[in-house]
Amino acid sequence: MKDTPIPNSIVKAKIAETGIENVGKATIREIVRLVSEIENASGQKFIRMEMGVPGLEPSEFGVNAEIAALKKGVAQFYPIIDGLPELKIETSKFVKNFMNVDVDKKCCIPTVGSMQGGMASFLVANRCQAQKDTVLFIDPGFPVQKQQLKVLGMKYETFDVYNFRGPKLKEKLESYLKKGNISTIIYSNPNNPSWICFTDTELQTIGELATKYDTIVIEDLAYFAMDFRKDLSKPGKPPYQVSVANYTDNWIMLISSSKAFSYAGQRIGSLVISDKLFDRQYPDLKRYFASDRFGFSIIYGAVYSLSSGTSHSAQYGLAAMLKAANEGKLDFVDVVRVYGERAKSMKKLFTSYGFKIVYDMDEDKPLADGFYFTISYPGFTGGELIEKLLYYGISAISLGITGSERTEGLRACVSQTHPDQFADLEFRLKCFQEDHPLN
Ligand SMILES: Cc1ncc(COP(=O)(O)O)c(C=O)c1O
Repeated sequence: MKDTPIPNSIVKAKIAETGIENVGKATIREIVRLVSEIENASGQKFIRMEMGVPGLEPSEFGVNAEIAALKKGVAQFYPIIDGLPELKIETSKFVKNFMNVDVDKKCCIPTVGSMQGGMASFLVANRCQAQKDTVLFIDPGFPVQKQQLKVLGMKYETFDVYNFRGPKLKEKLESYLKKGNISTIIYSNPNNPSWICFTDTELQTIGELATKYDTIVIEDLAYFAMDFRKDLSKPGKPPYQVSVANYTDNWIMLISSSKAFSYAGQRIGSLVISDKLFDRQYPDLKRYFASDRFGFSIIYGAVYSLSSGTSHSAQYGLAAMLKAANEGKLDFVDVVRVYGERAKSMKKLFTSYGFKIVYDMDEDKPLADGFYFTISYPGFTGGELIEKLLYYGISAISLGITGSERTEGLRACVSQTHPDQFADLEFRLKCFQEDHPLN
């Protein structure tokens, strides 16, 4: 039998050893472990596309400010829970400069990554009105957020937006909201895993329905300003990062610093709440928190219980990066544009060897090239494909674990594939196609 680029026997043995019954259903971290073991055993480097880790150096503005803060001795003090005053100011300016949205600095709260921002939001937003106890995911989505809800014992519903883009979104979304149990709508934009970007019209639909049904929108901006089809890099100048905040007052934004500033290791992000929602009183919150006010419950109920605030030095680091971006001294968008360039080349390679791009359009526009793209290969389910590709030294995750109905698809992340691996990638894809010819 003809061997594959990574020897058959090694891949088979490692899958068996890890005890993963179905590679297609494995979590991201399980795939990471499996691939590392195959790499070690085979001595061959994979084209690793399974995990969304930044592949770039963090900004010097952040690193230097953190070092200076540590040297000043901030490590000995508990940080203020609602955030360092200068960070709150810079976050509010950042939202104005890059989204053209006004928000008071008191409503800008640092969190231990957007991961914690999401958890804190669920803890409060899903408890504002007793009859509304369910979170609605506009999927595909980031699997860990559903894991968070499971851990919290909270309910969620979900639909794949693939067949409900543009004008079709309203009726679909309303069919959930009119049942009266949805407290919160969550989506990421640009979207992990599909890299679809909602259009302004779609965001208007979401915003108007959120107001009509008194539902809170969590807009997860983990890939802030990374729709590279537009130049979103100029502070205070259009075009801006699009947002549901232009269409409703019921919003929370999660602005991660992990990808936009390559700062994932420091675990810091910003939870930003609309001024109106921050001050809003919900009597039912008193079931869980000392106050009926939304903002107070987020800070002194949720963030306090979760971690008593966010690492002191990381707050200095983020404040310095945001300040530099606000003042036009740091073009953070330009730094990450390389992801778009990589995606363009990698998508071209995959499609020229028979693969299809699963999510490929934003209404009438071709999808942007960015941090992720989605692929399928005729005749394979996602589970089969993910396992098969391991023999060719290529790793990804299955769309099946992201709430996508396109279970034939995989999510590919570009961040860890450097252009000097493109030749390897091409060779492996060529072998794959030769071994699995298309009719
Ligand atoms: C959609 C989405 N939300 C949230 C996060 C988590 O961000 P953070 O690293 O700030 O916790 C990620 C990270 O991959 C993500 O893709």
